[in-house]
Amino acid sequence: MVGHRAADTPGYRTMTVEARPPAGSPVDASASREGPAASDSRLESMPELAVLAAGVSKRFDDKDVVQDLTFQIGRGQIFGIVGPSGCGKTTTIRMMLGVLKPSGGELLLMGRPPHLFRRRDRQRLGYMPQLFVLFPELSVWENLNFAASIYGMGWFSRGKRLESALDIVELGDARSRPAGQLSGGMQRRLELACVLVHEPDVLFLDEPTAGIDPVLRAKFWDHFRELRDAGRTLIITTQYVTESEYCDRVAVMRDGRLIAIGSPEEVRRQAMGGEAIRVTGPDLDRRAVTAIRGVEGVIRVRRSDDDALEVIAEDAGRAVPDLLEALAAADVEVTEVEEQRPSFDDVFVRLMEAAGGRGE
Ligand SMILES: Nc1ncnc2c1ncn2[C@@H]1O[C@H](COP(=O)(O)OP(=O)(O)OP(=O)(O)O)[C@@H](O)[C@H]1O
Ligand SMILES: [Mg+2]
Repeated sequence: MVGHRAADTPGYRTMTVEARPPAGSPVDASASREGPAASDSRLESMPELAVLAAGVSKRFDDKDVVQDLTFQIGRGQIFGIVGPSGCGKTTTIRMMLGVLKPSGGELLLMGRPPHLFRRRDRQRLGYMPQLFVLFPELSVWENLNFAASIYGMGWFSRGKRLESALDIVELGDARSRPAGQLSGGMQRRLELACVLVHEPDVLFLDEPTAGIDPVLRAKFWDHFRELRDAGRTLIITTQYVTESEYCDRVAVMRDGRLIAIGSPEEVRRQAMGGEAIRVTGPDLDRRAVTAIRGVEGVIRVRRSDDDALEVIAEDAGRAVPDLLEALAAADVEVTEVEEQRPSFDDVFVRLMEAAGGRGE
Protein backbone atom coordinates (compact mmCIF):
# COMPACT_ATOMS: atom_id res chain seq x y z
CA MET A 1 0.00 0.00 0.00
CA VAL A 2 1.05 3.51 -0.76
CA GLY A 3 1.15 4.74 2.79
CA HIS A 4 3.53 2.03 3.93
CA ARG A 5 5.85 2.53 1.05
CA ALA A 6 6.06 6.26 1.64
CA ALA A 7 6.36 5.95 5.39
CA ASP A 8 9.18 3.45 5.07
CA THR A 9 11.26 5.69 2.89
CA PRO A 10 14.21 7.25 4.69
CA GLY A 11 15.98 10.50 3.92
CA TYR A 12 13.37 13.10 3.11
CA ARG A 13 14.43 16.21 1.23
CA THR A 14 12.53 19.43 0.86
CA MET A 15 11.43 20.65 -2.51
CA THR A 16 8.22 22.15 -3.72
CA VAL A 17 6.30 20.49 -6.49
CA GLU A 18 3.98 22.90 -8.13
CA ALA A 19 0.37 22.04 -7.47
CA ARG A 20 -0.93 23.70 -10.56
CA PRO A 21 -2.07 21.91 -13.69
CA PRO A 22 0.85 21.90 -16.08
CA ALA A 23 0.61 24.11 -19.12
CA GLY A 24 -0.71 22.60 -22.28
CA SER A 25 -3.49 20.34 -21.04
CA PRO A 26 -6.96 21.08 -22.40
CA VAL A 27 -8.19 21.94 -18.92
CA ASP A 28 -5.33 24.32 -18.43
CA ALA A 29 -6.10 26.17 -21.56
CA SER A 30 -9.42 27.18 -20.09
CA ALA A 31 -7.74 28.00 -16.78
CA SER A 32 -5.49 30.55 -18.36
CA ARG A 33 -8.45 32.08 -20.18
CA GLU A 34 -10.74 32.34 -17.22
CA GLY A 35 -8.46 32.30 -14.15
CA PRO A 36 -8.87 29.80 -11.32
CA ALA A 37 -11.50 31.75 -9.41
CA ALA A 38 -14.00 32.11 -12.22
CA SER A 39 -17.54 33.00 -11.22
CA ASP A 40 -20.64 30.85 -11.89
CA SER A 41 -21.70 32.82 -14.90
CA ARG A 42 -18.26 32.58 -16.48
CA LEU A 43 -18.29 28.86 -15.81
CA GLU A 44 -21.40 28.52 -17.88
CA SER A 45 -19.13 29.36 -20.79
CA MET A 46 -16.73 26.61 -19.70
CA PRO A 47 -18.93 23.59 -20.32
CA GLU A 48 -15.87 21.37 -20.63
CA LEU A 49 -15.29 21.60 -16.88
CA ALA A 50 -16.90 19.16 -14.45
CA VAL A 51 -15.15 20.51 -11.37
CA LEU A 52 -13.35 23.69 -10.50
CA ALA A 53 -11.63 24.03 -7.14
CA ALA A 54 -9.82 27.22 -6.20
CA GLY A 55 -8.06 27.38 -2.83
CA VAL A 56 -10.48 24.89 -1.26
CA SER A 57 -9.89 23.96 2.36
CA LYS A 58 -11.71 21.98 5.04
CA ARG A 59 -11.28 22.41 8.76
CA PHE A 60 -12.64 19.94 11.32
CA ASP A 61 -12.63 21.39 14.85
CA ASP A 62 -9.24 23.07 14.88
CA LYS A 63 -7.54 20.82 12.34
CA ASP A 64 -7.03 21.72 8.67
CA VAL A 65 -7.52 18.38 6.95
CA VAL A 66 -7.62 19.78 3.43
CA GLN A 67 -5.75 22.91 2.47
CA ASP A 68 -5.65 25.18 -0.53
CA LEU A 69 -6.71 22.72 -3.22
CA THR A 70 -6.68 24.27 -6.66
CA PHE A 71 -7.50 22.02 -9.59
CA GLN A 72 -9.89 21.48 -12.45
CA ILE A 73 -11.49 18.37 -13.84
CA GLY A 74 -12.52 18.31 -17.47
CA ARG A 75 -15.65 16.45 -18.50
CA GLY A 76 -15.27 13.01 -20.00
CA GLN A 77 -12.07 12.32 -18.08
CA ILE A 78 -10.86 9.83 -15.54
CA PHE A 79 -9.43 11.97 -12.78
CA GLY A 80 -7.51 10.12 -10.09
CA ILE A 81 -6.84 11.29 -6.56
CA VAL A 82 -3.94 9.36 -5.10
CA GLY A 83 -2.38 9.57 -1.68
CA PRO A 84 -1.69 7.78 1.56
CA SER A 85 -4.32 7.02 4.15
CA GLY A 86 -5.61 10.11 5.92
CA CYS A 87 -4.33 12.59 3.31
CA GLY A 88 -7.85 13.93 2.64
CA LYS A 89 -9.12 12.02 -0.40
CA THR A 90 -12.54 11.16 1.02
CA THR A 91 -12.97 14.64 2.48
CA THR A 92 -12.24 16.13 -0.96
CA ILE A 93 -14.74 13.78 -2.62
CA ARG A 94 -17.38 14.66 -0.01
CA MET A 95 -16.90 18.36 -0.64
CA MET A 96 -17.27 17.84 -4.38
CA LEU A 97 -20.46 15.89 -3.70
CA GLY A 98 -21.83 18.65 -1.49
CA VAL A 99 -21.99 16.40 1.60
CA LEU A 100 -19.43 18.69 3.26
CA LYS A 101 -19.22 22.43 2.76
CA PRO A 102 -15.68 23.75 2.24
CA SER A 103 -14.39 25.97 5.07
CA GLY A 104 -12.70 28.19 2.50
CA GLY A 105 -12.13 28.67 -1.22
CA GLU A 106 -14.44 28.13 -4.14
CA LEU A 107 -15.69 24.78 -5.36
CA LEU A 108 -17.96 24.34 -8.34
CA LEU A 109 -19.39 21.14 -9.76
CA MET A 110 -20.87 21.47 -13.22
CA GLY A 111 -20.74 25.21 -12.70
CA ARG A 112 -22.49 25.41 -9.31
CA PRO A 113 -21.54 25.06 -5.64
CA PRO A 114 -22.41 21.41 -4.88
CA HIS A 115 -23.78 22.05 -1.39
CA LEU A 116 -26.54 24.10 -3.06
CA PHE A 117 -27.50 21.30 -5.47
CA ARG A 118 -31.12 20.37 -5.80
CA ARG A 119 -32.47 16.86 -6.22
CA ARG A 120 -32.43 17.18 -10.02
CA ASP A 121 -28.71 18.09 -9.96
CA ARG A 122 -27.89 15.25 -7.60
CA GLN A 123 -29.52 12.76 -9.94
CA ARG A 124 -26.70 13.48 -12.36
CA LEU A 125 -24.15 12.26 -9.80
CA GLY A 126 -23.20 8.77 -8.76
CA TYR A 127 -21.31 8.04 -5.55
CA MET A 128 -19.65 4.80 -4.57
CA PRO A 129 -18.51 5.42 -1.00
CA GLN A 130 -15.43 3.82 0.48
CA LEU A 131 -17.67 1.70 2.70
CA PHE A 132 -20.74 0.83 0.71
CA VAL A 133 -23.59 -0.88 2.52
CA LEU A 134 -25.45 -3.58 0.64
CA PHE A 135 -28.44 -5.36 2.12
CA PRO A 136 -27.06 -8.86 2.73
CA GLU A 137 -30.48 -10.56 2.85
CA LEU A 138 -31.64 -8.98 -0.40
CA SER A 139 -30.70 -10.46 -3.75
CA VAL A 140 -28.39 -8.79 -6.25
CA TRP A 141 -31.43 -7.67 -8.24
CA GLU A 142 -33.25 -6.35 -5.17
CA ASN A 143 -30.22 -4.36 -4.03
CA LEU A 144 -29.98 -2.82 -7.47
CA ASN A 145 -33.69 -2.14 -7.53
CA PHE A 146 -33.43 -0.39 -4.18
CA ALA A 147 -30.59 1.83 -5.49
CA ALA A 148 -32.80 2.71 -8.47
CA SER A 149 -35.67 3.67 -6.19
CA ILE A 150 -33.40 5.96 -4.14
CA TYR A 151 -32.58 7.84 -7.33
CA GLY A 152 -36.26 8.19 -8.03
CA MET A 153 -36.31 6.03 -11.14
CA GLY A 154 -39.79 5.07 -12.26
CA TRP A 155 -40.83 1.40 -12.36
CA PHE A 156 -41.21 1.25 -16.08
CA SER A 157 -37.83 2.72 -17.01
CA ARG A 158 -36.03 0.64 -14.41
CA GLY A 159 -35.92 -2.89 -15.83
CA LYS A 160 -33.73 -2.11 -18.82
CA ARG A 161 -31.31 0.00 -16.81
CA LEU A 162 -30.97 -2.65 -14.12
CA GLU A 163 -30.17 -5.24 -16.78
CA SER A 164 -27.63 -2.98 -18.39
CA ALA A 165 -25.91 -2.18 -15.06
CA LEU A 166 -25.74 -5.92 -14.26
CA ASP A 167 -24.29 -6.56 -17.71
CA ILE A 168 -21.55 -4.00 -17.24
CA VAL A 169 -20.33 -5.65 -14.03
CA GLU A 170 -21.06 -9.17 -15.35
CA LEU A 171 -23.36 -10.19 -12.54
CA GLY A 172 -26.34 -11.21 -14.65
CA ASP A 173 -26.01 -14.86 -13.61
CA ALA A 174 -25.91 -13.93 -9.91
CA ARG A 175 -29.06 -11.80 -9.95
CA SER A 176 -31.02 -14.04 -7.54
CA ARG A 177 -28.24 -14.63 -5.03
CA PRO A 178 -28.39 -12.84 -1.68
CA ALA A 179 -25.73 -10.09 -1.63
CA GLY A 180 -24.38 -11.44 1.67
CA GLN A 181 -23.38 -14.68 -0.06
CA LEU A 182 -21.29 -13.04 -2.78
CA SER A 183 -17.50 -12.90 -2.66
CA GLY A 184 -15.93 -9.54 -1.69
CA GLY A 185 -15.04 -8.79 -5.31
CA MET A 186 -18.58 -9.59 -6.51
CA GLN A 187 -19.99 -7.34 -3.81
CA ARG A 188 -17.75 -4.50 -4.95
CA ARG A 189 -19.01 -5.10 -8.53
CA LEU A 190 -22.59 -4.98 -7.29
CA GLU A 191 -21.81 -1.71 -5.50
CA LEU A 192 -20.50 -0.30 -8.75
CA ALA A 193 -23.67 -1.43 -10.54
CA CYS A 194 -25.72 0.36 -7.85
CA VAL A 195 -24.12 3.70 -8.74
CA LEU A 196 -24.42 3.13 -12.49
CA VAL A 197 -28.09 2.27 -12.52
CA HIS A 198 -29.35 5.84 -12.95
CA GLU A 199 -26.71 6.60 -15.62
CA PRO A 200 -25.03 9.53 -13.86
CA ASP A 201 -22.90 12.05 -15.73
CA VAL A 202 -20.31 12.37 -12.99
CA LEU A 203 -19.20 9.37 -10.96
CA PHE A 204 -17.35 9.61 -7.66
CA LEU A 205 -15.71 6.33 -6.78
CA ASP A 206 -13.93 6.27 -3.44
CA GLU A 207 -11.31 3.52 -3.48
CA PRO A 208 -13.42 1.25 -5.69
CA THR A 209 -10.57 -1.23 -6.16
CA ALA A 210 -9.41 -1.45 -2.54
CA GLY A 211 -8.89 -5.01 -1.36
CA ILE A 212 -9.74 -6.74 -4.63
CA ASP A 213 -7.46 -8.98 -6.62
CA PRO A 214 -5.35 -7.66 -9.51
CA VAL A 215 -7.37 -9.44 -12.23
CA LEU A 216 -10.64 -7.94 -11.03
CA ARG A 217 -8.95 -4.59 -10.57
CA ALA A 218 -7.90 -4.64 -14.22
CA LYS A 219 -11.53 -5.41 -15.14
CA PHE A 220 -12.77 -2.51 -13.05
CA TRP A 221 -10.44 -0.20 -14.94
CA ASP A 222 -11.79 -1.59 -18.22
CA HIS A 223 -15.28 -0.65 -17.01
CA PHE A 224 -14.07 2.80 -15.99
CA ARG A 225 -12.54 3.40 -19.42
CA GLU A 226 -15.75 2.26 -21.13
CA LEU A 227 -17.76 4.68 -18.99
CA ARG A 228 -15.30 7.47 -19.79
CA ASP A 229 -15.49 6.66 -23.50
CA ALA A 230 -19.29 6.91 -23.23
CA GLY A 231 -18.80 10.52 -22.06
CA ARG A 232 -18.95 10.15 -18.27
CA THR A 233 -16.61 11.94 -15.90
CA LEU A 234 -15.04 9.65 -13.31
CA ILE A 235 -13.37 10.90 -10.15
CA ILE A 236 -11.61 7.99 -8.54
CA THR A 237 -9.52 7.77 -5.38
CA THR A 238 -7.00 5.03 -4.88
CA GLN A 239 -4.17 3.98 -2.63
CA TYR A 240 -2.74 1.82 -5.42
CA VAL A 241 -0.21 4.18 -6.88
CA THR A 242 0.22 2.16 -10.06
CA GLU A 243 -3.42 2.90 -10.91
CA SER A 244 -2.38 6.52 -11.50
CA GLU A 245 -1.15 5.34 -14.86
CA TYR A 246 -4.72 4.47 -15.92
CA CYS A 247 -6.07 7.97 -15.25
CA ASP A 248 -6.22 10.79 -17.77
CA ARG A 249 -5.13 13.17 -15.05
CA VAL A 250 -3.99 12.47 -11.56
CA ALA A 251 -3.75 14.57 -8.41
CA VAL A 252 -1.33 13.44 -5.73
CA MET A 253 -2.22 14.48 -2.18
CA ARG A 254 -0.26 14.44 1.02
CA ASP A 255 -1.34 15.77 4.41
CA GLY A 256 -4.36 17.53 2.93
CA ARG A 257 -2.42 19.28 0.19
CA LEU A 258 -2.01 18.75 -3.49
CA ILE A 259 1.65 18.02 -4.20
CA ALA A 260 1.46 17.22 -7.92
CA ILE A 261 -1.15 17.23 -10.66
CA GLY A 262 -1.23 16.48 -14.36
CA SER A 263 -1.30 13.62 -16.81
CA PRO A 264 0.60 10.54 -15.53
CA GLU A 265 3.49 11.53 -17.77
CA GLU A 266 3.49 15.09 -16.47
CA VAL A 267 3.37 13.91 -12.86
CA ARG A 268 6.27 11.55 -13.56
CA ARG A 269 8.20 14.49 -14.93
CA GLN A 270 7.33 16.70 -11.97
CA ALA A 271 8.53 14.01 -9.58
CA MET A 272 11.82 13.36 -11.35
CA GLY A 273 12.51 17.02 -12.17
CA GLY A 274 12.83 16.07 -15.85
CA GLU A 275 13.27 12.90 -17.90
CA ALA A 276 15.57 10.13 -16.73
CA ILE A 277 18.38 8.45 -18.67
CA ARG A 278 20.62 5.68 -17.40
CA VAL A 279 24.23 5.42 -18.56
CA THR A 280 26.17 2.19 -17.93
CA GLY A 281 29.77 1.33 -18.72
CA PRO A 282 32.85 -0.42 -17.29
CA ASP A 283 34.54 2.70 -15.96
CA LEU A 284 32.32 5.72 -15.61
CA ASP A 285 34.73 8.03 -13.84
CA ARG A 286 34.83 11.78 -13.35
CA ARG A 287 35.56 12.31 -17.06
CA ALA A 288 32.21 10.72 -17.88
CA VAL A 289 30.37 12.94 -15.42
CA THR A 290 32.07 16.07 -16.81
CA ALA A 291 31.22 15.06 -20.38
CA ILE A 292 27.58 14.44 -19.44
CA ARG A 293 27.30 17.75 -17.60
CA GLY A 294 28.44 19.54 -20.75
CA VAL A 295 25.51 18.23 -22.81
CA GLU A 296 22.76 20.74 -23.50
CA GLY A 297 19.53 20.02 -21.65
CA VAL A 298 21.14 17.95 -18.88
CA ILE A 299 19.77 19.03 -15.53
CA ARG A 300 21.76 16.78 -13.19
CA VAL A 301 23.83 13.62 -12.97
CA ARG A 302 24.20 11.26 -10.05
CA ARG A 303 25.79 7.91 -9.45
CA SER A 304 23.38 5.07 -8.69
CA ASP A 305 24.01 2.25 -6.19
CA ASP A 306 25.17 -0.08 -8.98
CA ASP A 307 27.72 2.44 -10.32
CA ALA A 308 25.65 3.49 -13.32
CA LEU A 309 25.04 7.20 -13.92
CA GLU A 310 21.51 8.54 -13.62
CA VAL A 311 21.02 11.58 -15.79
CA ILE A 312 18.03 13.90 -15.62
CA ALA A 313 17.47 15.87 -18.82
CA GLU A 314 14.83 18.25 -20.09
CA ASP A 315 14.17 16.00 -23.08
CA ALA A 316 15.56 12.47 -22.89
CA GLY A 317 14.94 11.68 -26.56
CA ARG A 318 17.03 14.65 -27.63
CA ALA A 319 19.74 14.17 -25.00
CA VAL A 320 20.54 10.48 -25.67
CA PRO A 321 22.36 10.96 -29.02
CA ASP A 322 24.15 14.03 -27.66
CA LEU A 323 25.25 12.05 -24.60
CA LEU A 324 26.61 9.25 -26.77
CA GLU A 325 28.53 11.76 -28.84
CA ALA A 326 29.93 13.63 -25.82
CA LEU A 327 31.01 10.40 -24.08
CA ALA A 328 32.69 9.14 -27.26
CA ALA A 329 34.49 12.47 -27.67
CA ALA A 330 35.75 12.19 -24.07
CA ASP A 331 36.94 8.64 -24.80
CA VAL A 332 34.59 7.06 -22.26
CA GLU A 333 33.54 3.49 -22.96
CA VAL A 334 29.78 3.07 -22.67
CA THR A 335 27.74 -0.14 -22.52
CA GLU A 336 24.32 1.47 -22.76
CA VAL A 337 22.60 4.84 -22.70
CA GLU A 338 18.94 4.21 -22.11
CA GLU A 339 15.87 6.34 -21.49
CA GLN A 340 14.19 5.35 -18.20
CA ARG A 341 10.55 5.35 -17.32
CA PRO A 342 10.37 5.19 -13.52
CA SER A 343 7.50 3.16 -12.10
CA PHE A 344 4.72 5.04 -10.41
CA ASP A 345 5.84 3.53 -7.10
CA ASP A 346 9.14 5.38 -7.55
CA VAL A 347 7.38 8.51 -8.74
CA PHE A 348 5.15 8.50 -5.69
CA VAL A 349 8.00 7.96 -3.23
CA ARG A 350 9.92 10.83 -4.85
CA LEU A 351 6.91 13.11 -4.55
CA MET A 352 6.41 12.21 -0.90
CA GLU A 353 10.11 12.77 -0.20
CA ALA A 354 10.05 16.07 -2.02
CA ALA A 355 7.02 17.22 -0.05
CA GLY A 356 9.22 16.82 2.99
CA GLY A 357 7.82 14.22 5.32
CA ARG A 358 6.31 10.90 5.99
CA GLY A 359 3.31 9.74 4.03
CA GLU A 360 1.13 9.04 7.03
N1 LIG B 1 -15.94 14.27 10.17
C1 LIG B 1 -14.66 14.42 10.55
N2 LIG B 1 -14.33 15.03 11.71
C2 LIG B 1 -13.04 15.18 12.09
N3 LIG B 1 -11.99 14.75 11.36
C3 LIG B 1 -12.24 14.13 10.21
C4 LIG B 1 -13.58 13.92 9.73
N4 LIG B 1 -13.53 13.28 8.54
C5 LIG B 1 -12.20 13.08 8.28
N5 LIG B 1 -11.44 13.59 9.28
C6 LIG B 1 -9.97 13.60 9.33
O1 LIG B 1 -9.51 14.18 8.14
C7 LIG B 1 -8.32 13.55 7.69
C8 LIG B 1 -8.52 13.10 6.26
O2 LIG B 1 -9.47 12.05 6.24
P1 LIG B 1 -9.99 11.38 4.89
O3 LIG B 1 -11.01 10.38 5.25
O4 LIG B 1 -10.39 12.45 3.96
O5 LIG B 1 -8.64 10.68 4.36
P2 LIG B 1 -8.46 9.65 3.17
O6 LIG B 1 -7.34 10.19 2.34
O7 LIG B 1 -9.75 9.38 2.51
O8 LIG B 1 -7.93 8.35 3.95
P3 LIG B 1 -8.16 6.77 3.58
O9 LIG B 1 -7.25 6.47 2.43
O10 LIG B 1 -7.72 6.09 4.83
O11 LIG B 1 -9.59 6.58 3.26
C9 LIG B 1 -8.04 12.42 8.66
O12 LIG B 1 -7.09 12.87 9.60
C10 LIG B 1 -9.39 12.20 9.33
O13 LIG B 1 -9.23 11.71 10.63
MG1 LIG C 1 -10.88 7.68 2.27
